Amino acid sequence: MTTPTYVTAAYLLAALLFILALAGLSKHETARRGNAFGITGMTIALLATVGLMVENARAVGGGSRLWTALGLLVVAMAIGAAIGVWRARSVEMTGMPELIALMHSFVGLAAVLVGWNSYLEHPGHGLGDALTRIHSGEVIIGVFIGAVTFTGSIVAYLKLSAKMKSSPLMLPGRHWLNLAALLIITGLTIWFIAAPALWMLAVATVVSLLLGWHLVASIGGGDMPVVVSMLNSYSGWAAAAAGFMLGNDLLIVTGALVGSSGAYLSYIMCKAMNRSFISVILGGFGSDGQVTGEAKDYGDHREVTADGAAELLKDADSVIITPGYGMAVAQAQYPVAELTRKLREAGKTVRFGVHPVAGRLPGHMNVLLAEAKVPYDVVLEMDEINDDFPETDVVLVIGANDTVNPAAEDPGSPIAGMPVLEVWKAKDVVVFKRSMATGYAGVQNPLFFNENTQMLFGDAKDRVEDIVKAL
Ligand code: TAP
Repeated sequence: MTTPTYVTAAYLLAALLFILALAGLSKHETARRGNAFGITGMTIALLATVGLMVENARAVGGGSRLWTALGLLVVAMAIGAAIGVWRARSVEMTGMPELIALMHSFVGLAAVLVGWNSYLEHPGHGLGDALTRIHSGEVIIGVFIGAVTFTGSIVAYLKLSAKMKSSPLMLPGRHWLNLAALLIITGLTIWFIAAPALWMLAVATVVSLLLGWHLVASIGGGDMPVVVSMLNSYSGWAAAAAGFMLGNDLLIVTGALVGSSGAYLSYIMCKAMNRSFISVILGGFGSDGQVTGEAKDYGDHREVTADGAAELLKDADSVIITPGYGMAVAQAQYPVAELTRKLREAGKTVRFGVHPVAGRLPGHMNVLLAEAKVPYDVVLEMDEINDDFPETDVVLVIGANDTVNPAAEDPGSPIAGMPVLEVWKAKDVVVFKRSMATGYAGVQNPLFFNENTQMLFGDAKDRVEDIVKAL
């Protein structure tokens, strides 16, 4: 049956609101409004979909069938909403990346299930020749994208939550394995479109699941930010594929919006990290995954107390703070905001240098600093501040490690080529962390052993509070 006009109009409005949501989310100042647009769009989309379901059920006789379908929908939505509210309330900010990865896996799984259901409903007959081919193509491509997204996101979840080693899995001939999997899937797709059969869909599903697993397992910890945004993009394409299979225009539009914005975000991240987009998509193609620099002896490090750091700050005119994942773990953003206020009141220039992949989420540090009411105009991106370190008196590295690691300049390092905040060029550097442990990428940081670096050990929140008191 044809879609009623009011549903089409509601879908158009929802799609428009999703576009406005994306536009709003691109800037701090408008992010809240963007979120509100997104929520309104999703509510309209849900109501319109329920309306469409009612119309469809009515068209085939209504009655008990309609009530069963509505009952199932309400129960499914209530369970989903309860789990969603519980997770959103209980998740720590530091646990967001793995939660997002897990959510991407659900979208992938949904696309696989929709594909299978769609095939079992019309297993290659009853639609006419051309339509059957189009339908078969939608099914197998949708299942492929969904399966890769599903297992890829599960591996990302395991790596981000440290349930699996973040170092890359180096199977012998791994690129040949990926190529073989792609060739099998391409061959099966062509065959399935010509003459669909259940076994082909089953084999394509299993190979796609293995490919998704292997592609993400082969990528090292340092490249995980790109992987997360890439899986975000895949989940969008998986949703769009499900939209084609279900004949739902809004799902196609929304999936394409998520897919293309995720792809663009991945591209920006690759540029920020000096990585090849193609290499990351192909599971680290072109990188040998060798880890070096671990066993090097960089000499001794120097330590400082909170009082000592406060003295350095009293004598400084210009200060740059570079926050990292440790600031999020310690929830140190509030005392950091307080410290910033005090230093600015004392006439010092205080600015923040934020690396594009600091923390565990795109924009992680910006969100925390905004939450603690640090003024936006003193929070600068890496490119905007990197040339200013040589003229800076004191740099406070608060829980950052990989993003300030000069080992990135060593061609043999796993983070080689990744642009980093060049904090070591400042007059004095104070590093806040609890031990000499490595950062997320597992690479030793020579910064900690420099002449002008002093380590301030302990929980970042406690140490910043100590400095605020000492000032
Ligand atoms: P990391 O390299 O992850 O290092 C964080 C440091 O914080 C650790 O060395 C840790 O040292 C310290 N720390 C942890 N808890 C602390 C606490 N309570 N108080 C003080 N220090 C604490 O941080 P980064 O510089 O932000 O780099 C981010 C890394 O994550 C990059 O490798 C990036 O590629 C990766 N990543 C980023 C994303 C996105 S999208 N941003 C997503 C996935 C992965 P101690 O244990 O010694 O305290």
